[in-house]
Amino acid sequence: MKVAVIGSTGQLGQDLMRAFGEEAVGFSHQDLDVTDGVGVASRIYSLEPDWVLNTAAFHRVDDCEINPALAFASNALGALNVARAAAAVGAGVVFFSTDYVFGGQDRERSHPYKESDAPQPINIYGISKAAGEQLVMQANERHIVVRSAGLYGTATSRKGWTFPELMINKARTDGFVRVVTDQALSPTFTADLARKTKELVEKEATGLFHLTNAGECSWFEFAKGVFDLAGVEVKMEPIQTDQTQRRARRPSYSAMTTARLEEVGLSPLRPWKEALGAYLSAKGIV
Ligand SMILES: NC(=O)c1ccc[n+]([C@@H]2O[C@H](COP(=O)([O-])OP(=O)(O)OC[C@H]3O[C@@H](n4cnc5c(N)ncnc54)[C@H](OP(=O)(O)O)[C@@H]3O)[C@@H](O)[C@H]2O)c1
Repeated sequence: MKVAVIGSTGQLGQDLMRAFGEEAVGFSHQDLDVTDGVGVASRIYSLEPDWVLNTAAFHRVDDCEINPALAFASNALGALNVARAAAAVGAGVVFFSTDYVFGGQDRERSHPYKESDAPQPINIYGISKAAGEQLVMQANERHIVVRSAGLYGTATSRKGWTFPELMINKARTDGFVRVVTDQALSPTFTADLARKTKELVEKEATGLFHLTNAGECSWFEFAKGVFDLAGVEVKMEPIQTDQTQRRARRPSYSAMTTARLEEVGLSPLRPWKEALGAYLSAKGIV
């Protein structure tokens, strides 16, 4: 099997490259820009892969509100370019999407979203990714749309830090952190996401899948998990989202279940705290 990984130098991209090993051919943003339909087609036609894994995104959520044209070009039309080029050579496509396609439903929601729940995004990033999902499903019948959340991985991305690293750095420099308690999610280790994606591809699965580490927590609980596991002493101040003055609205609750995995005979991902421990150990922090 030959697999093209788009966005191969990103945090998920690097774990996909590791998971697929010699089967993977990586394309960095410099090698291939998903917004360039002709460039995408020419790269995919010359490689003739069996699967194309598209991790590319403009995912700085607040910046998407300022530049919706770039958000839609990368996250929706870019996704279509990749799905179409893959279809033209008979390849399957995996598109990585987000829990931020949810949030507009019930503000008091407290039970996890299933794959069958209708998306209702509340910011430009979520709207552009929901559009990308639809375009990918329409353009390539061999599609796997993977929604994940709160990604962190051992690879250094251009963003420069992961949430756990940011927390540890702030604790060391300031001695205290302020973290929101009113946004809940299912944070996910990219190494686990990459391995489970490989299992889906090997099964020739089709359709929409939620892939997150099991369980849910608020960002505050996630940060506390980091400090507990890493043995870092820090003063934690719980805050509310309306104290953060971010440009984009965030879902107050976007935890997801991974029920469709079981339907195709695959096991769920391990609990988020266990995965976080594995990440901290892989980073040499514990
Ligand atoms: N991060 C999260 O918490 C999160 C949560 C849920 C879903 N997701 C989704 O998961 C996927 C992977 O996220 P990640 O955290 O691994 O992001 P990442 O580390 O930023 O990796 C994305 C990669 O895509 C590249 N890229 C960006 N725009 C591109 C374009 N127009 N054409 C080609 N390549 C482009 C980036 O290159 P440059 O950095 O050089 O631009 C980067 O190498 C994304 O689709 C994202 O929407 C992420």
